[in-house]
Amino acid sequence: MSQGKFITLEGVDGAGKSTHTDWIGETLRSAGKDVVVTREPGGTPLGEKLRSLLLGESMDIETETLLMFAARREHIVQVILPALAAGRWVLSDRFTDATFAYQGGGGGIPSERIAQLEAWVHKGLQPDLTLVFDVPIELARRRLATAAKPDRFERQDVGFFNRVREAYLRRAKADPKRIKIIDSSKSLSEVRAYLKEIISSICK
Ligand code: TYD
Repeated sequence: MSQGKFITLEGVDGAGKSTHTDWIGETLRSAGKDVVVTREPGGTPLGEKLRSLLLGESMDIETETLLMFAARREHIVQVILPALAAGRWVLSDRFTDATFAYQGGGGGIPSERIAQLEAWVHKGLQPDLTLVFDVPIELARRRLATAAKPDRFERQDVGFFNRVREAYLRRAKADPKRIKIIDSSKSLSEVRAYLKEIISSICK
């Protein structure tokens, strides 16, 4: 049986990632793939408990980084690796690029430190494709303003979000083969046309 593929979705809060997640899952299914849609932090019973702590409680930035990776280890072992080994495709709403962007760019944890945790926790696993939904921060803030109850990250200031965005863009520039930037300020139909192109090339 062939290995499945691992796709991750990223972007600052309010960039429109959630609007596309289910649609991408459905598009892959129509291409005949058996798809698991999951998310981080979360994706397992323990990971979901860690998610509610991470999104709700204030904590030291290093504690936050370690908990992200603790939840991730569980997610990798319980969900991602077994699914890929069974030939399924995994679509994860966020993964380690979010730690580089939020705890690294936003929170100031050096990226070398995050890379050490990445090497320990991933043991070589990397997404086959990462889509970074990108919009100017002013637009992301406007979209977020409609959120009913913003979580701890969504309450951060504009400076934080600009640093998160910059960190995503830097990572995409450093690894353009894996990380594709989606200009999410375009219309829904334009974004979907571009997504379709990318998805059909990874489905070949
Ligand atoms: P998000 O994926 O935006 O979900 P929702 O659409 O339900 O708000 O929320 C997860 C938050 O967690 C988001 O603000 C980014 C943050 N996060 C990190 O800071 N680091 C990480 O490694 C991950 C996976 C997420």
